[in-house]
Amino acid sequence: MQEPRHVAIVTGAASGIGRATAELFAERGHGVIAADIVDPTWCDGTDVVPLRADASSDDDNADMVTAALEHFGRLDASILNAGITGRATFEDDDALHRLDTLYAVNLRGVALGIRHAAPVIRATAGSGAIVATASTSGLGGDAGNFAYNATKAGVINLVRAAAIDYGASGIRINAVAPGPVETGMTARLQQAPELHDAMRRRIVLQRWGQPRELAEAFWFLASPAASFITGVTLAVDGGLSSTAGHFDLPQTGPPT
Ligand SMILES: NC(=O)c1ccc[n+]([C@@H]2O[C@H](COP(=O)([O-])OP(=O)(O)OC[C@H]3O[C@@H](n4cnc5c(N)ncnc54)[C@H](O)[C@@H]3O)[C@@H](O)[C@H]2O)c1
Repeated sequence: MQEPRHVAIVTGAASGIGRATAELFAERGHGVIAADIVDPTWCDGTDVVPLRADASSDDDNADMVTAALEHFGRLDASILNAGITGRATFEDDDALHRLDTLYAVNLRGVALGIRHAAPVIRATAGSGAIVATASTSGLGGDAGNFAYNATKAGVINLVRAAAIDYGASGIRINAVAPGPVETGMTARLQQAPELHDAMRRRIVLQRWGQPRELAEAFWFLASPAASFITGVTLAVDGGLSSTAGHFDLPQTGPPT
C-alpha cells in the first residue's frame, strides 16, 4: 500500500529560513501550509498553500491546522519558525514594548503552535514531529539584545518540556538554533561589509549560513532518521556556539 502523503505547517514561510524549509519539504513530497503574517507570494497554491496567519495569535494557529486538514486531510509535522528581532537595552524607552512583542512571536508563538498542532498530528497521523526555531542567541547572551536572548532561550527549554508532555503520544519536539544566516532578518549586517565580515570571523567555518542549510536540519529532525531524538536543540551555526570566545579563530576566509 502506498504511504499517504505527509503534510507540514511551516510558519514564517514568506521568506528566509521558513521559505527554504517549505520549499524543501514540498520538493521532497510533503503538502505544505506556508503560514506568515505577510502573504507568502511564492507558493503554487497546490503543493504549497499560502496562509496569512500571525504566529502569536491563538485563533491563527487554529487556522493553520484547519488549513492543513482542509487541503491535505492530515498533519505530520509543524515547523514553528516565525520570529522577529529587535535589540534594546534595559533602559531604552521602548524596552518593555520590545520584550512583549518579541515574547509574543518568538516564544508564545511556539507554545501556541505546539498546542494546536500536537493533537491534530496525534489524531490524523498517529505520530509526528514539531521543530521550533531557537537561535545561538538563545544559547548565550549578546550585547543590547536581552529580549531576543530571553525569548530564544525560552524556546530551548520549551521544547524540552513539550517533548516530555508529548513523548508518550509519539510526537517528537525539538529545536534548531541557527547561527548567522543570510536572510531578510540579517539584511542590515549583510549590507555593511565590515559588520558582515566581523560576524564571519567568529564562525568556525568562516562563513555565514544559507537558508537551505537550515531547511536540511528541520527536514532531518522532522524525519524518521531522527526517530529517537526529542527535547534537543541542534545548533546549525558553523560552529559559532562551540567556541568559548577567548581567542581569535584561525582565519581561512577572504583577507580583510
Ligand atoms: N537569520 C539569522 O541569522 C537567524 C539566526 C538565528 C535565528 N533565526 C531565526 O530564524 C527564524 C527565521 O528568520 P529568518 O532569518 O528566516 O528571517 P526572515 O525575516 O527572512 O523571516 C522571518 C519570517 O517570519 C515572518 N513573521 C514575523 N512575524 C510573524 C508573525 N507574528 N507571524 C507569522 N510570521 C511572522 C516574517 O514575515 C518573515 O517572513 C526566526 O525565528 C529567527 O529568529 C535567524
